[in-house]
Amino acid sequence: MDRLAIIGGRPLFGEIAISGAKNSALKLMAASLLTDEPLVIENTPRLADVDMLLKLLAQHGVDVEFEGSTLKLQAATIKSTEAPYDLVRKMRASFNVLGPLLAREGKARVSLPGGCAIGARPVDLHLKALAAMGAKIDLDEGYVVASATGGLHGAKIDFPFVSVGATEHAILAATLAKGETILTNAAREPEIVDLADCLNAMGARVENAGRSTVRIAGVDRLGGAHHTVVPDRIEFGSYAMAVGAAGGELFLRNGRIDLLAAAGGVLEEAGLKLTQEENGVRVRRLGDRCRAVNIVTQPHPGFFTDLQAQFMALMATADGVSVIKETIFENRFMHAPELARMGAQISVDGQIATVRGVKRLKGAPVMATDLRASMSLVLAGLGAEGQTIVNRVYHLDRGFERLEEKLSHCGALIERVKGD
Ligand code: EPZ
Repeated sequence: MDRLAIIGGRPLFGEIAISGAKNSALKLMAASLLTDEPLVIENTPRLADVDMLLKLLAQHGVDVEFEGSTLKLQAATIKSTEAPYDLVRKMRASFNVLGPLLAREGKARVSLPGGCAIGARPVDLHLKALAAMGAKIDLDEGYVVASATGGLHGAKIDFPFVSVGATEHAILAATLAKGETILTNAAREPEIVDLADCLNAMGARVENAGRSTVRIAGVDRLGGAHHTVVPDRIEFGSYAMAVGAAGGELFLRNGRIDLLAAAGGVLEEAGLKLTQEENGVRVRRLGDRCRAVNIVTQPHPGFFTDLQAQFMALMATADGVSVIKETIFENRFMHAPELARMGAQISVDGQIATVRGVKRLKGAPVMATDLRASMSLVLAGLGAEGQTIVNRVYHLDRGFERLEEKLSHCGALIERVKGD
């Protein structure tokens, strides 16, 4: 297995281009199943998760052309409405093919995604939304077997709590349902707005995406479209924090401070200066160390959970004590013991981690069990004294495009060591 070797302590200077958002691209790709015409998705990141979903889409009958960052998908006919276990279990976002298949073909058999390292992550809200739209849903040997003879119909769906995936899934399915669907307590993440923009370009009528009440007027058919994926706010926030950990100044091309929402203010409070320019954001650290700030992860526009691990790495060397509360996932602190191996002073009690900043971390071999946690170890390694080896790079390959290339262009000593 490949590893990353990082020699820390070098400030970062230069420019990093922020890629298209993985978490948006995956749902846009699922939208291709809703039409027999081509959907062209520009600014698609080249990532392992994207490749995995392409495999699944191909077996449903989608023609795929991927050149540079332009992805062209065309589902002229649906060859199979079954999404097999092997292709869904590795990535939860694959489950989102269920709604589009059901909306277009009136039936689907899709493997349940199962749990994952950051928590149990059930799909009950997804299924309840589809059932409210008239789908008959059964479970059969780990598969969701859904049918809607005569098609889906509009419904009023009130989510008991905010779910990004269930909101997206309901929007995808409702585009082709008969009548109007109204979602309340919907997620408001930028990726949801991006999905609605793309669907509307395909002829859908999704109103108010990005607010908690979303209205979707069903249409008879959708057509092709060209759409550009929104910049990845997680990648952007992570590289901004890399400046916090290692010092220096970076220009993050395509970065948008507005996409960070509350996290933008937190980074400023922690001692980073973020300046929005025409084509991106300039980031520098004020002072030698960051300052401790308390955070609570929340759905958008709160501080987002996908930056929590990286923020903990930043706080590990900040001046003061930071209290970090994770409210979205029940098991998203696995990076804490790994950071502790590098000298971080962190105590975890349930959903709360208390981080006492130390002056410097020391490099060590470390390993993380999920994508964003792996990035937090990279950030820690960039600021640490000596060598850090981050094991299990395949997690990073799922969600950070050309990570070591982007960082080494800015002066970081980071390289991939090929494993067996
Ligand atoms: C999306 O996951 C993202 N993934 C996650 O990013 C992100 O952390 C999360 O949203 C929160 O922002 C993708 O977009 C592919 P949720 P999702 O449904 O949609 C519970 C990354 O690193 N829940 O908003 O799965 C769930 O267990 C990943 O890129 C139910 O109980 O998240 C969680 O506790 C990690 N039942 C909470 O809701 C359901 O039916 C929020 O999850 C659905 C969710």
